Amino acid sequence: MATMSAPVEQVLHMTGGDDETSYANNALITQKVMMRARPILEESIQKMYSTNLPMTCLKVADLGCSSGKNALLAVSNIIKIVDEMSDRLKVETPTFQIFLNDLFGNDFNSIFKSVPEFYERIKQDKAEKQHGTTCLINATPGSFYGTLFPSNSIHFFHSSYSLHYISQAPKWWSDEEAKLGDDEDNNIYVTSNSPPSYSEQFRKDFNLFVRSRSRELVLGGGMLLTFAGRYDTPQDITAPGLIRMILNNMVSQNLIEEARLAHFNVPFYTATENEVREIIKGEGSFSIERFESIKTSWDGSSLDEEGIESFEDDDERGEFVARYVRAIFEPLLKVHFGEGVMDELFLRFKNKVIQFLPKLVYNAFVISLVKIA
Ligand SMILES: C[S@@+](CC[C@H](N)C(=O)[O-])C[C@H]1O[C@@H](n2cnc3c(N)ncnc32)[C@H](O)[C@@H]1O
Repeated sequence: MATMSAPVEQVLHMTGGDDETSYANNALITQKVMMRARPILEESIQKMYSTNLPMTCLKVADLGCSSGKNALLAVSNIIKIVDEMSDRLKVETPTFQIFLNDLFGNDFNSIFKSVPEFYERIKQDKAEKQHGTTCLINATPGSFYGTLFPSNSIHFFHSSYSLHYISQAPKWWSDEEAKLGDDEDNNIYVTSNSPPSYSEQFRKDFNLFVRSRSRELVLGGGMLLTFAGRYDTPQDITAPGLIRMILNNMVSQNLIEEARLAHFNVPFYTATENEVREIIKGEGSFSIERFESIKTSWDGSSLDEEGIESFEDDDERGEFVARYVRAIFEPLLKVHFGEGVMDELFLRFKNKVIQFLPKLVYNAFVISLVKIA
């Protein structure tokens, strides 16, 4: 088992590979949110592209790309949007230089293996259209909380479902707050209980993120950021909050050592719209073109549309949610509690999900920014 004090940057990663338990096979929710955010991406890219014309090489970075289909999904959408727009404007499509960024422990190898097929697809589109679309994929490992690229070098940043990870986890709850659990009405108080140190860490990190991207973007460059934001009720339930609750129960049943739990903190924070707006405004070089919220229930059905999966019953629903949450959090949990308790933990997680399902809602912020100064 790794030490408890391993820095977040070294231990945080999604489950790699492409088997049943991998993030690659459990990323349907983020795909769905990306689909729903597509019109805002389109608007954002169109603005950036028209401001920067003429252009021979368009440099785009996807921050927190992870592995699996989603790693190249945003890139592929961006290429399509620019390609179509170039046709409409009767200008030549630029060469795309794409930088895929994630932390050092990310499974970049599995992305690299999918690049030939990706290039092939782009080439086929090219043959159909008679004019060239060249795309060059690069990898830029490292934390997005800090410098990743030279100054004035990037035209567009995209980041999906990554900025709610803060760079380090302060102690999660005070002892009193650690007595988390269900109350008589089956409410769970999670996000509203996170102590100020979490919001301070977010403020520090997000501010550094915005400053770093501002330096690296060309004037008129754009960013589309999608990440988990605070839902507007005090009883906001998050996946790490639910996990924490189950860990508490497992400690009380002597299945997990109390000392291990005391040192376990998840580097995850859901900010409010005001917190995010204030930091962007304070930094001063971006205009906020759009600030939207997309709400999706944990089993993938958005609140106003059909779901992405058809489930026989609540058991299947719970299983689906437990599988993708496991792909996201298991690497971090294993480091602290060992592999031995993972099956039990996620079985309990599944049962909690079934119990709370109608209340489980993700709120994703979709924010489109343009560098104006
Ligand atoms: C839930 S995945 C999202 C993956 C993909 N963008 C999607 O939408 O499906 C979040 C990713 O953010 C990465 N991440 C978290 N903090 C990061 C940081 N400081 N720098 C770079 N990547 C980070 C994680 O390693 C993880 O791969």
